[in-house]
Amino acid sequence: MNNELANEIRSKCDIVDIVGERIPLVARGKNFFGVCPFHDDSNPSLCVSREKQIYTCFSCHATGNVFTFLMNYEHMDFRETLHYLGEKVGIDVSSVHIKKKNTMFDSFYDAYQFSLKYFQNNLQSKLGKDARNYLATRKIDDSVIKEFEIGLSLNNSNDLTNLLVNKKYNLGDLNKIGLSSDDRDVYINRIMFPLYDLTGKVVGFSGRIYQNNGQNKYLNTKETPIFKKGQLLYHYHVAREECRLKKSVIVMEGFMDVIRASTIGVRNTVALMGTALTREQLELIKRLSTNVILCLDGDDPGVHATINIGDMLLEEEIEAKVLVLPNPDDPDSFILNHGKESFLNLLDSAITFNDFKLRKLKEKVDFRSDEETALYINQVLQETVKVQDPIRVEIILKKLAKEFDLSYNTLEMRFRELDKPKSRKKITAVTYQKAKKKTKYEKAIEQVLYFMLNNDWVINQFEKERIIFPNEGSRLLASEIVYYYTTYGQINIPDFYTYVQDKEEVVNFLNDILASDYLESTTRDELFEYFGVIREYSRAQEIKRLTNSLSKEVDPIIQAEIADKIRKLRIGDNKNGWRN
Ligand code: CTP
Ligand code: MN
Repeated sequence: MNNELANEIRSKCDIVDIVGERIPLVARGKNFFGVCPFHDDSNPSLCVSREKQIYTCFSCHATGNVFTFLMNYEHMDFRETLHYLGEKVGIDVSSVHIKKKNTMFDSFYDAYQFSLKYFQNNLQSKLGKDARNYLATRKIDDSVIKEFEIGLSLNNSNDLTNLLVNKKYNLGDLNKIGLSSDDRDVYINRIMFPLYDLTGKVVGFSGRIYQNNGQNKYLNTKETPIFKKGQLLYHYHVAREECRLKKSVIVMEGFMDVIRASTIGVRNTVALMGTALTREQLELIKRLSTNVILCLDGDDPGVHATINIGDMLLEEEIEAKVLVLPNPDDPDSFILNHGKESFLNLLDSAITFNDFKLRKLKEKVDFRSDEETALYINQVLQETVKVQDPIRVEIILKKLAKEFDLSYNTLEMRFRELDKPKSRKKITAVTYQKAKKKTKYEKAIEQVLYFMLNNDWVINQFEKERIIFPNEGSRLLASEIVYYYTTYGQINIPDFYTYVQDKEEVVNFLNDILASDYLESTTRDELFEYFGVIREYSRAQEIKRLTNSLSKEVDPIIQAEIADKIRKLRIGDNKNGWRN
């Protein structure tokens, strides 16, 4: 239903109009070109195809269709996109529930939902008195407890595991999803902060000690099939809407910081939860907003993390801003100690990442030493090379010249020298790569993948027939399709695009397929013919490989074994009658 509806809506709108309403496009040949909004650029590297109804950026490889464009550009989720476009083309979607089919993870989510309620109850019960007192001393009041669904695990108890087992969850699953360990409760006597996935479902917990008992401050759910820390950001599901309104995203270290910021109405925030930023998280942040404000702890590790993340963003041509907190405050303690207005003032006076780096650089220099001073000036110039805006470059150079009583020309000359090797991003003409002619086998593989993307039943057949693709790229894409399908119960190409968007290899292959002219649907008989072609190819490849190793093998016994394998493969060939 969902898929059909999406297809119908998509077929009624033109991607060129939708993109064109937001970005000026120029027609060239069959396609339209504009400046890509998904990376910092001034060249027309975004190509929109009316014929194929997709867009591709030749520079940053952003790609997709009208749904993914809106999802990324407007930061809408799929549902919002469907409503927005539905309204535009006159299809009423208000009555349509975007119904999710059951997935194999539903019972895991249910177990978490149950645990959440259980922990919340504990906190409100008589046994939660000490924990409530602790929260009160930290100025976490009832409304916050409610909003962030904070709970409590009890002392030396195995109650949760028992309750869940009584509810017919099996112990194996409970261990697998991190609610039990060795068949016993994982969380003992901790204040429980639920952790959410990108859609807001509880998929894990972070348990904090509240009595000084020498244990680790936080205990987190282990990596599970539904909880992958590196692919999540705390508070993302709330921040999505807030970042759109505020047109910026604030990145913090801990969830306590996010919770505290929320109490003063600042909700366009996400937290990393104590890990180094992963590529996936970087992509998530970019999706929230390219206007990134780093607000990490004011201590040394916080400064280090700021520089790391800022550099990662710079590589993506995003210059973050930095909200500088006094050492050793974190956002939580700063807001508590200095209040809302002070924090909002700091937010207003956030400095650019480059300024932050220069400031940090300067702190370490002993300016009585000429050597150190010269080194510092060179470092500043080195950093300034990364600044895109020529006016800012000039300002920095002028300030530097004044500060150290140097001639502007000397500095500028040195700057140019440093700027040379990197050579600013070249303006590359937009060219199409000539598509390599595909073999019959490659075509069969891609056609089957295309069917899988469009017809659920093909995925089932693919699994049932145990088709194995002969090359890495197609295998990878197939396994992502199967994984996605088993997780979400259906393939929705726009959604799927979003899901694979940071798996570059998969995206490239997917684009290749979606940009070619393949049949949309198939019959069972036709499908099996394609399967036949693929099997034949795999077998031919395997025979080739074995023949090759046979020629290198010296041991006669192994030689005989290999020869036998080849013979069997050849018989299989004949039996199925797929020989050329
Ligand atoms: N963290 C963790 N395990 C620890 C310490 C930290 O998993 N032993 C993670 C938590 O997700 C935490 C984040 O790292 O939210 C930031 O750590 P920290 O700054 O120490 O936490 P605070 O937010 O300051 O927590 P609190 O104020 O409760 O001490
Ligand atoms: Mn803290």
